[in-house]
Amino acid sequence: TQLFSKSDCLKGKRALVTAGGTQEPLDPVRYLGNRSSGRMGYAVAQALQEAGAETILVSAPTDLPTPHGVSRVSVQTALEMYDAVLANFPNMDVIVKAAAVADYRPASQSEQKIKKDGTNRMIELVPNPDILAELGRRKTSQVLIGFAAETENLLANAQEKMHRKNVNLLVANDVTKPGAGFGSPTNIVSFLFPDGRRIDFPKMSKLEVARNLVGEIANLLGDCNK
Ligand code: CTP
Ligand code: CA
Repeated sequence: TQLFSKSDCLKGKRALVTAGGTQEPLDPVRYLGNRSSGRMGYAVAQALQEAGAETILVSAPTDLPTPHGVSRVSVQTALEMYDAVLANFPNMDVIVKAAAVADYRPASQSEQKIKKDGTNRMIELVPNPDILAELGRRKTSQVLIGFAAETENLLANAQEKMHRKNVNLLVANDVTKPGAGFGSPTNIVSFLFPDGRRIDFPKMSKLEVARNLVGEIANLLGDCNK
């Protein structure tokens, strides 16, 4: 009989993680962005790699170093992230969508720097595709993990997203709590499952959250009998 060490749990599995906040250009020097630091997604990529998975990190711009042993694909916009994720999706066993994807992008992008003229301005926005929802529609045997950062009605909103996007596990966090969410080294999360199960975690480092998540991913894949 073979004893699996925890660090080998996901050996032979292929994982893709998205991280960071997409940037949607307005002109050559400006973009619409969000406060995501990328830390949660980078921690998940590190934890998956440590558990033995071959890991691709599709990352919007961040200040973070690529975790050791992880292959990084750099993107800027939601549409670029969509293309990179969809191209890799059929070969993956696990997908974790930790990125903060812009829901909208400017309807047009100025080729030249927009000049001020002292008047009011409107920016027309058009919807970006929902990458996770698309993966939920195409899913065959993949384990699909979503995130939901909320500022109100955390569990109700998160539950609705879990079902709408057809994910196997949704990580919910209330970004208004001190020590949770954007930019923080720590997070306070709940894991929600489609069968109604829920696990509430106390405040812990994003790497600890990531390691707990990888443990649940191993359970969902049916590997690593504990
Ligand atoms: N997501 C995605 N593509 C988008 C928007 C969101 O893949 N265009 C993913 C995120 O990576 C995250 C999950 O969907 O895993 C939830 O993102 P969130 O912004 O919380 O949900 P939305 O469906 O965009 O709803 P809203 O922003 O209106 O709350
Ligand atoms: Ca959104």
